[in-house]
Amino acid sequence: MAESEPGDINLMTPETMRAPQKTYAELRSRCPVVHSGSGVGRFGGAMLTRFEDVMWALRHPEIFSSAMDVQLALGTERPMIPQQIDPPEQTRFRKLLDPHFSRKRMMKLAPAIRAHANELIDRFYDEGECEFDSAFAIPLPCTAFLALMGLPLSDLDLFLGFKDDIIRPQKNHPDATDPTAVRAEAGKRIYAYFEDVLEERRKNPTEDFLGYLVQAEIQGDRLTHEEMLDICFLQILAGLDTVTATLGCNIAYLAENPDQRQKLLDGPELLDGAIEELLRWESPVTAVPRVLTRDVTVRGVTLKKGELVTLLLGSANTDDDEFEDAQKVDFERRANRHIAFGAGAHRCLGSHLARMELMVALEEWHKRIPHYRIKEGETPTFSPGIREALYLPLVWDPA
Ligand code: HEM
Repeated sequence: MAESEPGDINLMTPETMRAPQKTYAELRSRCPVVHSGSGVGRFGGAMLTRFEDVMWALRHPEIFSSAMDVQLALGTERPMIPQQIDPPEQTRFRKLLDPHFSRKRMMKLAPAIRAHANELIDRFYDEGECEFDSAFAIPLPCTAFLALMGLPLSDLDLFLGFKDDIIRPQKNHPDATDPTAVRAEAGKRIYAYFEDVLEERRKNPTEDFLGYLVQAEIQGDRLTHEEMLDICFLQILAGLDTVTATLGCNIAYLAENPDQRQKLLDGPELLDGAIEELLRWESPVTAVPRVLTRDVTVRGVTLKKGELVTLLLGSANTDDDEFEDAQKVDFERRANRHIAFGAGAHRCLGSHLARMELMVALEEWHKRIPHYRIKEGETPTFSPGIREALYLPLVWDPA
């Protein structure tokens, strides 16, 4: 079979969505550069699978551009900032946003997240079972998001609705024939919500992220109203599902690997390393899309200007050429330079927030529910693209 011929490899089966690592390995060895239209992945387009190539693409935004004409499909009226714009403009926004997402600032949110994690566990602990996604993994990151933004916890359901209507329009509108219309309508509601809140912040400045946005300046210029809205919109899409998915992937792995879980229970100091290793191994954000600004040849395969290219982060993160013992999950791995948060100009703005949320959530969960397993006879299901454990039934013996 020719290079770039993936044959029957398919990343979209329920089995590969649940555990994609073997399929990634097959792709890397059989066709490291997948041509457009192969149907292997979710976005269509070509696909880079090896760490070296993915990293090179991430570091060359002038060739692999993020300025894609897909924004309308997500209910937005303009590109989301900073994800759908390229340097140097994108860099201006990152200079303004990065300080607000520092580790020190994010750690200040930890007590609120810890309290909410326990409130959630209180709701189902005595039953000895829960569906992890809906009971814990979905609501917890939303609390962190609301705390970051300075919005009331009473808006939790509203935000969950916004997020679902944009990312999974069918979930709350099973009869909708046109998902784009559901997204567009949700997009309007998101803009209107933030219009009101930003207006309020202008009148009554606050210390939270929205208060920061209305006062922040780039080289003496304030952000325009539209820029603020485009930043807020992205926060919903980038910050909620990603942490939900990571929590689900982590707990599913630990439920199915009790020996590894026991290592964490015996040595809680391993938790930081475990979080990094599970980010590498599970790579919940499996891929990021780019569009080519010119023709480019990778490993002998020519990709054309204007072509969509998927950078398969999950495959890069499990590449044996980059990571020693790449197929082994090792919580004590040294120099774990995974790219689960991306790399280069667009590297995740919220990585410190995400790490704090994961640390707090896993600490509190294991304090309360150290021994758990997947409910007998049940099979967890995962979504493609962002690998959310959509159905993760867990059981334990309450004390
Ligand atoms: C474990 C959870 C998370 C994972 C795995 C993750 C992953 C990623 C990845 C792979 C990218 C790069 C996208 C690209 O190159 O096109 C990214 C970008 C981004 N992430 Fe995250 N993310 C997580 C959590 C968060 C959170 C909690 C927030 C915010 C509150 C956030 C905000 C952003 C933003 C704004 C960008 C765009 C940055 C830019 O384009 O300059 N992320 N994330």
